[in-house]
Amino acid sequence: MLIFDTVAKLREHLTECRMRGLSIGLVPTMGALHEGHLALAGRCKAENNVAVCSIYVNPTQFNNPEDLAKYPRTPGTDLRMLQEVACDVVFMPTDAEMYPKPAALKMDFGNLETVMEGKFRPGHFNGVGVVVSKLLHMVQPDAAYFGQKDLQQCLVIKRLVQDLSFPVRLVIHPTVRETDGLAMSSRNQRLTPAQRAAAPLLHQALGMAREILFNHGTTELARKTVERHLSQSEELRLEYFEIAQADDLSPLPDGTVEPPFALCIAAYAGSVRLIDNLLVVGR
Ligand code: PAJ
Repeated sequence: MLIFDTVAKLREHLTECRMRGLSIGLVPTMGALHEGHLALAGRCKAENNVAVCSIYVNPTQFNNPEDLAKYPRTPGTDLRMLQEVACDVVFMPTDAEMYPKPAALKMDFGNLETVMEGKFRPGHFNGVGVVVSKLLHMVQPDAAYFGQKDLQQCLVIKRLVQDLSFPVRLVIHPTVRETDGLAMSSRNQRLTPAQRAAAPLLHQALGMAREILFNHGTTELARKTVERHLSQSEELRLEYFEIAQADDLSPLPDGTVEPPFALCIAAYAGSVRLIDNLLVVGR
């Protein structure tokens, strides 16, 4: 496994790979890797000749300085885990390498900026859009892998790739969960035992809402059920629960809804923000 910290060395190696006719896949990450990241990396390796994984905690996508400061950083373990899934190249740039100058460019993703993560994390998707654009230019992959865990991020990146004609195939991988249903996340490491015990309520609540909507219950009832389910625990504070169009996350009208739709949730456990979603495509 090769590890690069400069764009020049990364490009030199990947140009050579490309000249040899090898296909390249990219998995962008912020490190503190878990089984969810590894599923993406393993799939990337299976579907491409060269699997590249980037590890970079991108400061411009953190709207909360405390979240950035407390974001877990475990480079030693990350590298060992990537070696185990036979990742070929790891790109671990410094801030100076990624942002020799602060980026002045501002990206606006329209409706996706005004709902859910866009609404509660102002500037977040601008930061994601800029860093993912940089990584796509640096690596020039044939395919790039993202997790459905961050559904809105997937839709933002889909839009980015369409609007700017990036020559890349996007692959969205299903959410990898703990056995109790909690979506794996680097932030889960920061949960206290009591918060960790309460955290699966998010996934459970989404499942309950799906059942209600499947059985022609109203969005109002689904919403109330989710609120009630989360309020069982004093550890959790619901930030939002939304029932939205699956393709662009625009809100669905109140009443009964027909699939496809997306159920999205965000809640705080102490200062740790957790998100999850379910895509409901059919009966
Ligand atoms: P990060 O949170 O490290 O996630 C890296 C990738 O792993 C993302 O595509 C994310 O959706 C995916 N992922 C995380 N948890 C997952 C899970 N439980 N199951 C499946 N996939 C999962 O997302 C980012 O980093 C950053 O915003 C990034 C795209 C790297 C830009 O900085």
